[in-house]
Amino acid sequence: MKKQQTPYLCHIFVCANMRENNPENPGCGAKGGDILKDKLKAAVTARGWKGKVRVSTTGCLGLCAQGPNVLLHPQGVWFSGVTEADLDVILETAGNFVS
Ligand code: FES
Repeated sequence: MKKQQTPYLCHIFVCANMRENNPENPGCGAKGGDILKDKLKAAVTARGWKGKVRVSTTGCLGLCAQGPNVLLHPQGVWFSGVTEADLDVILETAGNFVS
């Protein structure tokens, strides 16, 4: 095993988990998590942040009822109830960590 620091200035984790057995709280994936991830990924590429900012889908982050959830790591900034209208704010926040 090799232990190292994250290679990214900011890692955007987008929950896309599906809670198929829970129709009342179906998870971030059922609430558009994958679409948010695709749009964030495209925006990161368009801004030339590739290699500095990484967008990844993740499994459940634990606050399912508040989803879709997006987490900026290692900054520890958490966005809940994210819609496409919020992506500019998320990108603006991530951009603060890109030098
Ligand atoms: S399903 Fe997204 S936080 Fe649990």
